[in-house]
Amino acid sequence: MTTQTTTPVRVLDVIANRRSRRAYDPTRPIDRQTIETLLQAAHLAPSSFNAQPWRFIVAAKDQHPDAWQRIFDTLMEGNQAWAQHAPLFIVGVAAIKPEGAERENGSALFDLGMAVQNLLLQAEALGLAARPMGGFFRDRLREAFNIPEGYHPHVVVALGYPGDPAQLPEPLRAYETAPRQRRPLGDVAFAGAWGTPWHA
Ligand SMILES: Cc1cc2nc3c(=O)[nH]c(=O)nc-3n(C[C@H](O)[C@H](O)[C@H](O)COP(=O)(O)O)c2cc1C
Repeated sequence: MTTQTTTPVRVLDVIANRRSRRAYDPTRPIDRQTIETLLQAAHLAPSSFNAQPWRFIVAAKDQHPDAWQRIFDTLMEGNQAWAQHAPLFIVGVAAIKPEGAERENGSALFDLGMAVQNLLLQAEALGLAARPMGGFFRDRLREAFNIPEGYHPHVVVALGYPGDPAQLPEPLRAYETAPRQRRPLGDVAFAGAWGTPWHA
């Protein structure tokens, strides 16, 4: 499914085409080779001091049904409504102060974010739909998987092959195909001085 976002200049197709999708085909699991590809893409992200402070919990509904259910149970209701059809969850955990570390890694969340973006772009290239979620109960998830202190479960990514947006309730159905919303570039990119809007 291509829903290319138009920009005044051409960016990479995977960046232009990626969007956070909520409609999945519940009948089509994601095989282990494909999951391995997603994880390898994530793991190739840059990180401060090459600390690689990302950890992932993989829960494919067909392979790890118990783990999939435990993750699903921690999602907030609004996310459960659509994520119930996702055949795969990947939890992104930041190793903020792993065992033996003297100090917190102040870059861990940033680095995890870059790894997750790699994963999302790889998913797009593989024709998968994906949506990251912060709407889950972190303490419950930590407990459900015995995640040690110093590790912060930050995001759950729902993944699957694209499904029919008609399966979604409104207004989610309309969001699924509506153009992606972004502020004007000049609001977020400054030309040489703070607050001076960038323009080409
Ligand atoms: C850290 C993070 C947390 C998010 N949490 C949720 C969430 O709980 N539920 C949801 O439906 N979308 C969630 N999203 C998806 C955003 O709403 C989405 O990325 C944003 O609207 C931009 O749309 P796009 O990704 O299609 O460009 C989250 C995204 C990020 C990066």
